[in-house]
Amino acid sequence: MRYQNHRQDHLPQVPSMRAHARAGRLVAAAATAVAAALLGGCEMPIALDPRGPAAAEIARIWWLLFWTAVVVSVIVFTLLGFAVRRARTSARTDEPHPTSEEGARIDNRATGFVLIGGGLIPALILIAATVLTLTGLAVFDRPPDGVEHTIVVRGHMFWWEVEYPEHGVVTANEIHVPVGQPVRVELESADVIHSFWVPQLHGKIEMIPGKTNVIYMEADEAGTYFGKCAEFCGRQHANMEFLFIAQERDEFDAWLERQAADAAEPTDDIALRGRDVFVESPCAACHSVRGLTPAAAEAGPDLTHLASRRTLAARTLPNVPGNLAGWILDPQGIKPGNQMPAVNLEPDDFHALLAYLGGLR
Ligand code: CUA
Repeated sequence: MRYQNHRQDHLPQVPSMRAHARAGRLVAAAATAVAAALLGGCEMPIALDPRGPAAAEIARIWWLLFWTAVVVSVIVFTLLGFAVRRARTSARTDEPHPTSEEGARIDNRATGFVLIGGGLIPALILIAATVLTLTGLAVFDRPPDGVEHTIVVRGHMFWWEVEYPEHGVVTANEIHVPVGQPVRVELESADVIHSFWVPQLHGKIEMIPGKTNVIYMEADEAGTYFGKCAEFCGRQHANMEFLFIAQERDEFDAWLERQAADAAEPTDDIALRGRDVFVESPCAACHSVRGLTPAAAEAGPDLTHLASRRTLAARTLPNVPGNLAGWILDPQGIKPGNQMPAVNLEPDDFHALLAYLGGLR
């Protein structure tokens, strides 16, 4: 051929070629799915790698059900294999048909087998699984010993308000706890139904408007755990994530003490001007800064210690100055459908505002 055709699909294809291509695509898709599942396991923590007592209980039940299902499947498919083979051999050989007496005996045996194998045994397995699951779930309702802290987590479209009512602390998208100690977590919603989920520490718990659900959480190891909204709640449901950070006791106490303090005073003239910009701009209508604005502004996250947080917009962006600037200028471009409007400021005012917010540690 003189000219190379770059679009292969312009070439006529015979059916077998098409089938071959389709099979190739299927294999490629399956391989991609398997690779994604395996590689995904490296990045995304899963519930089957528990790091706390509640998640360990869930994983225990899960594995028990999984192996039960494996054993049942192996038995059922082995019997199916025998049946198919027997039907084929009896079709090939000229076995005489059973007499009516023999036939009735075979029918009786088959009925008994179906009733026991297909009815009684599955019923027993399902009853055992139900009892096991319910008793496992009941453990979660009992308050464990040694609970010192209560944390109220309120779901918003599309971020998490985090409050330590005994300490006057309000923050967002980041939950800190002492490692190895259970905390009481009260789950609420400010708008629609969300679901609170830290896969390595606990099962998914709904956050329902007008209702408070209580769970007890504990992390066995210090570290940062991934948390996510697990109930479709609107356009940015996928970007409604948080960090659950288990810290050594002294580290946690120090964090709590810093968070309980009022906002830091600006240390230079630019940040001072930025504070005035903040108070006079629409920002203060939705966001509180303790010690500066009235606490009534709760539509958006509390910004008293904004600069101490690791991420912005519910783990959508790392909290670095460039991202904060971009977020203020174009929140709808970054996270379309979220509740934050863009704020128009003069360039000097904008820089001053960034300097002020950057000092809120
Ligand atoms: Cu909140 Cu999905």
